Amino acid sequence: MRQHHRTACVIGSLLLIAAAGTSSSAATPTKAPDRAGPTPLGQIVPAPMKVEPGGAGFEITAKTPIRVGSGNPDERRLGEYLAGILRPSTGYRLPVTDREGKGGIRLRISAEPENKVLGGEGYRVISTRGSLTITSWSSTGLLHGVQTVRQQLPAAVEKKTPQRGPWRVAGGTIKDMPRYAYRGAMLDVSRHFFPVEHVKRYIDQLALYKMNKLHLHLSDDQGWRIAIDSWPRLATYGGSTQVGGGPGGHYTKDQYKDIVAYAASRGLQVIPEIDMPGHTNAALASYAELNCNGVAPPLYTGTNVGFSSLCVNKDVTYKFVDDVVRELAALTPGGSVHIGGDEAHSTSHEDFVTFMGKVQPVVAKYGKTVMGWHQLAGAKPAKDAVVQYWGYDRTGQAERDQVVNAAKQGTKLVLSPADRAYLDMKYDKDTPLGLTWAGYVEVQRAYDWDPGTYLQGAPADSVLGVEAPLWTETLSTPAHLDYMAFPRLPGIAELGWSPAATHDWGAYKGRLAGQAPRWDALGINYYKSPQVPWPAER
Ligand code: ACM
Repeated sequence: MRQHHRTACVIGSLLLIAAAGTSSSAATPTKAPDRAGPTPLGQIVPAPMKVEPGGAGFEITAKTPIRVGSGNPDERRLGEYLAGILRPSTGYRLPVTDREGKGGIRLRISAEPENKVLGGEGYRVISTRGSLTITSWSSTGLLHGVQTVRQQLPAAVEKKTPQRGPWRVAGGTIKDMPRYAYRGAMLDVSRHFFPVEHVKRYIDQLALYKMNKLHLHLSDDQGWRIAIDSWPRLATYGGSTQVGGGPGGHYTKDQYKDIVAYAASRGLQVIPEIDMPGHTNAALASYAELNCNGVAPPLYTGTNVGFSSLCVNKDVTYKFVDDVVRELAALTPGGSVHIGGDEAHSTSHEDFVTFMGKVQPVVAKYGKTVMGWHQLAGAKPAKDAVVQYWGYDRTGQAERDQVVNAAKQGTKLVLSPADRAYLDMKYDKDTPLGLTWAGYVEVQRAYDWDPGTYLQGAPADSVLGVEAPLWTETLSTPAHLDYMAFPRLPGIAELGWSPAATHDWGAYKGRLAGQAPRWDALGINYYKSPQVPWPAER
């Protein structure tokens, strides 16, 4: 069971706000542009599958066009996205054009065999003296290729005002595709509410590292964050506060659709989570009839867990679930809805099994597949359910076995080991934010594990991928999210994307250090771990 350590949190937040101010201004790169040469091809995060350096490489100049195919809206959209990153910092015009011509930057979606072998997210980047080509079978792959080019350019390219070049991409070819189909991050918008703009900021950070799933933890004891028309008090009352008693908030359906669309434009599918049957105080407080005793509890702004449960034996509970899942499924172009299932300590095992037996078919009825925390393996997971493992080194063998046995019977797994992938764990004893129940998670620990062999006994092909959850009991600002996610998030992204053969802490930490000037340019407030050889500040 999670234990919470709230005492240091408020002081910690204040310290961090002070620290955030210094770190983003002091580290602003005064770095001379790349006189020493461009970033070596492939020295990016996540490490690409195949890198063939060679040749002079491409330089972006005032005359460079960005060429897209005529009548190809995806190529044009991504051309404009790339131009939007490059124009402010280079000061160049960088017209996006579908006029025929040679040279410049070329974005191309094409079903040629060299692209098809790289699958639905793979891409190639070919950098020569005369042209820089990004090509993929799909728009998502093309987007990943754009992120690669971005990282090959000097960090100053991320700035919003004109910087000195040269803007060179090392010569050669990158051929790349992900190891895993599922590379996710979870944001807990329940413990503290984060408005749309903050979520979009996080989405942009995830896209830079080629993540493709954003799991939103939309409900918990402390707050219900999504408007549900058939049960309006969930959001208006259940969403009216947060940890510590602040004003909370919720997304209207239009705001939520805006998040989903923005995520899609950055290559990410949103997976909404309504946590059930525990973690439901906000719902129970909003509607008395959902409680077994018919009495609504007060709203909750603390950080305990395991005290709330939907009433498993009441019909109205399933009317509620049906309505919520129906409305949520209608907002979800992706295939999955996450139904939680963790820490249902106030629900008997028998009731838990009954509840999951009734709720999973509701998700299927609305055309979605079930995702759940790994406790779902202790009920009867639906045939196509995905369970998310969040155990850690001290998780008992019986609990692991349950997950492994489900995997052997075909249940797919997403791995989020709490003492590796939980971005809310403190780095060390001095971390001003975060929790400690799974232990300290320094940068090397977050990176140094193999999803393919992590859960002993689980078939390797049961692993769909990895996810880095960011719980927000102690986090309430974008600077807080930055500080906990960076520099660990890119490590989880690399575990999800890069071939196992590239996995090497010694090499990784150098590539990771190379990201720091980019974070400075983007205003990302990161933890300067002593484990990483950060470039000297100048
Ligand atoms: C969890 O951390 N309770 C999934």
